[in-house]
This record gives sequence, C-alpha cells and structure tokens, in this order.
Amino acid sequence: MQPYLIAPSILSADFARLGEDVAAVLKAGADVVHFDVMDNHYVPNLTMGPMVCKALRNYGITAPIDVHLMVEPVDALVPQFADAGASIITFHPEASRHIDRTLQLIKSHGCQAGLVFNPATPLSYLDYVLDKVDVILLMSVNPGFGGQAFIPATLEKLAAARKLIDASGLPIRLEIDGGVTPDNIADIATAGADMFVAGSAIFNTADYAAVINKMRQQLAK
Ligand code: DX5
Ligand code: ZN
Repeated sequence: MQPYLIAPSILSADFARLGEDVAAVLKAGADVVHFDVMDNHYVPNLTMGPMVCKALRNYGITAPIDVHLMVEPVDALVPQFADAGASIITFHPEASRHIDRTLQLIKSHGCQAGLVFNPATPLSYLDYVLDKVDVILLMSVNPGFGGQAFIPATLEKLAAARKLIDASGLPIRLEIDGGVTPDNIADIATAGADMFVAGSAIFNTADYAAVINKMRQQLAK
C-alpha cells in the first residue's frame, strides 16, 4: 500500500479567490489538488476548464493537480489540460468512445491516467486496460455536485477494486470521491482506498488544517 494522499476538491473552494484558497489548503497539509471539470452535458453542472488550471500554475501552485473530467466527449480536452499543467487526468469510461485510446492519449501527454466509476458503473471496464491505468477513482456519490452523502455500497466496491490492484501487483492508486468526512475516512481506508477526495468537509470549515489533521489521525488508527 502506498502512503495516503488527501486531495481537497476545489469545487467547494471560493472561486472568487481560488489561488489563495488552493494555496491555503495546501499549506494546511493537503497533498494533491482535486480539480472537478463539469460540462453541463455529461453531468448537470458547469465548472471550470484548462484556463483555470493554467491560472493556478501561474499563481505558483506546484502540488500535483488531479483533473477529474466529467465531460463528454473526453479526448479534445486531454492535450489542453496537459498543457495547462495537469498531473493526473481521469475520465468516465461511459463518456469515451474508445477507452484504450483515451488512456494512451493521456499518457502520451506525460500525465498519469485513470478511469472513474460512477456508483452503478461496473469495474469490468478495467478488464483489458488495468496495465494502462495509474489511478482507479470510485465515485461514492453520483457525479455533478459537492456536498452529497457517501453511498455505503461503495465500501464493497472499494474492497473489490483493492483485490484487483493487489492481485495485479501494479502501483495503481485507489481514489475515492464523494461524501468523505473525518467520520467515515477510517472505514473507507479499511475498505482499500489510499487517496481521498474531500470537498465540502474541508472547504465548508474555517480551519482547513484542523479537518485535514483529523482525517490523518483517523487514517493512522
Ligand atoms: C462530484 C465531484 C466531487 C465533489 C466532492 O461530482 O467529483 O469531487 O466535489 O465533494 P464532497 O466531498 O463535498 O462530496
Ligand atoms: Zn471529483
């Protein structure tokens, strides 16, 4: 198992002062910036694109940026996000006509690649591409909005994904996204996740360091 990573979702950050807010959450101990891209087509919400990613890099953010594409189609945005400074690019397999091609495209642009699974999307999409993914992201809410409740059935799915990863012997990250809080993070880790996205649980509080420390304490148990 690799060291745990905490990845605040900046969907819940203050967009009017995004650079400052992202710098603050990193200073508070976050490892990775989770960057939610929604297109009002694949999901019923609209957020930010490559220009905002680039702006964060220009502002001086050097932490890894984990771009979660909730868009359809996917491919045209891959080179744009790679040029904008993305470190990881993940996409939903239902949103790409040619999943293997999209994974290769991401890697050819020097980024880590991952597949994202909605709560009802089967892990069988991994069957023939496991060796091409760096990250498996399981959604524990339906994509589109922050602040939703964690769907408990995801724990069983995490355990299944953890088994797949361990059996493969590959250094694949198992990321969880949606409804993660200091109260459920220990169970989520026990089920097999090693990378934790949290939006509202972190940004809707005044003291980011306090929440992140609480999460790390729970993870250390
Ligand atoms: C939902 C996004 C998540 C979301 C998580 O579609 O992918 O990253 O921001 O927010 P919380 O932690 O509030 O559930
Ligand atoms: Zn996300």
